[in-house]
Amino acid sequence: MAERLLEVISIETRYGLSQVLFGISLAISPGEMVTLMGRNGMGKTTTVRSVMGLTPCMAGSIRFDGREVASLPSFRVAQLGIGLVPEGRQIFPNLTTRENLVATAANRTDAADPWTLDKVCELFPRLGERLNSMGNLLSGGEQQMLAIGRALMTNPRLLILDEATEGLAPLVRAEIWQCLTRLKAAGQSILVIDKNVAALTRIADRHYLIERGRVVWCGTSAELAAAPQVQHQYLGI
Ligand SMILES: Nc1ncnc2c1ncn2[C@@H]1O[C@H](COP(=O)(O)OP(=O)(O)OP(=O)(O)O)[C@@H](O)[C@H]1O
Ligand SMILES: [Mg+2]
Repeated sequence: MAERLLEVISIETRYGLSQVLFGISLAISPGEMVTLMGRNGMGKTTTVRSVMGLTPCMAGSIRFDGREVASLPSFRVAQLGIGLVPEGRQIFPNLTTRENLVATAANRTDAADPWTLDKVCELFPRLGERLNSMGNLLSGGEQQMLAIGRALMTNPRLLILDEATEGLAPLVRAEIWQCLTRLKAAGQSILVIDKNVAALTRIADRHYLIERGRVVWCGTSAELAAAPQVQHQYLGI
């Protein structure tokens, strides 16, 4: 296994003529939980889209387990073991919870102890109660749990969550943080985007702050917690 699970090196990405990323670099080691934070519109989702091959970068390099993936189509990137919980969740509205969970399930990475429907329901008991409900009838929190469960059912080596708890009630948020803590303890590598700095400095290892398509600060949770001026300048806290 490569020393770095994911290595993003100086990527530049544009939508049409409008350049959004100006040389983003970040790295995630196996088993780490790393965050990407920044104000609205700074390029967090675009970074994730570039990693997934959804909006390919025009310069730079993206290595997953030592292999260059920057020019691969998104389905290949997913097959290599990156599971995305997308911004907006993108649950299949006219499939049941159970169907959503199994629709894209796969053990592509030959995980020794792969995810099953039962294990996802143990992680999120609420989903177990709603297995036969249509996706569009679930609450926002249930949909987010379903999106996480669906990504886990692909047995990803790297789980990426874009806006992990946006728009969710405090109790549901706490449940999501607890779930990520459990996943990390089980060795899952995680890249998480969210605006909840207090929670993330408790549960994540390292942080990258971005502003206008550039990484402006990176450091550990202890360093970020001890830098209120950094939080104020780049996160508006
Ligand atoms: N499909 C698109 N076409 C053109 N410009 C886009 C597109 N998607 C995003 N952008 C622009 O790219 C910039 C970065 O957007 P991005 O969605 O990556 O930001 P973000 O950090 O994820 O923001 P948020 O916190 O609101 O989710 C913004 O200026 C946005 O308007
Ligand atoms: Mg975004």
